[in-house]
Amino acid sequence: MFDLRHGRQTSGAACSGLAIRIKETAIKHTALQIIRDEHSSLAAMLKSMRMMVERGPVDNSEQFFDVLRAMLFYIDEFPERLHHPKESDLLFPRVARAVPAVFATIERLENEHINGEKTVRELQHLLLAWELLGEPRKEAFVTRCKQYVTFYLEHMRLEETVILPEAERVLSDADWRELDMAFAKNCDPLTGKYPADPAYDRLFTRIVMRAPAPIGLGTS
Ligand SMILES: [Fe+2]
Ligand SMILES: [Fe+2]
Repeated sequence: MFDLRHGRQTSGAACSGLAIRIKETAIKHTALQIIRDEHSSLAAMLKSMRMMVERGPVDNSEQFFDVLRAMLFYIDEFPERLHHPKESDLLFPRVARAVPAVFATIERLENEHINGEKTVRELQHLLLAWELLGEPRKEAFVTRCKQYVTFYLEHMRLEETVILPEAERVLSDADWRELDMAFAKNCDPLTGKYPADPAYDRLFTRIVMRAPAPIGLGTS
């Protein structure tokens, strides 16, 4: 597991609060390892966002909204643009062809990918409404945000418990060679295991440095 509360070196800055714990498991294929690592970092970001929302702005609303905006931007930017396409374009079609019994599950996950970007944009709008229009708009964001975190964690759980084991069971060596090569090209900088895009690294650092302790390293 990865939760945003552990040491990580990013751009020379030691990050504790938004820490990282990576469960080392013996996973045979690079592609599966990458998916699990990206899920771990995304789960950490989602749970930290939920902690932020439960904690509330306290007496620093500027910091609060700044961090939540950055978290939502990360969730929109990396997984929606790079993680889901790897699943939808490369992994799911192969598993669906080989195991018709999981087709309905893949269809559900696909629909969730398709709606993912829209859902994050809606959350971004609800957050802005709370920030600009105040307390009357708080509940709508808090409710949707918690629902979103629950939904996303369940989406990843389904992939890890249904799709990945089936992929491991049925895909050929040739499939894995192709998948491993394709997946290795774009990786999540948050896990710290793969080449980082400096822009994502700066975003991660910004979230860690601004999030109030103990979620991040910012003033609490
Ligand atoms: Fe997915
Ligand atoms: Fe996924």
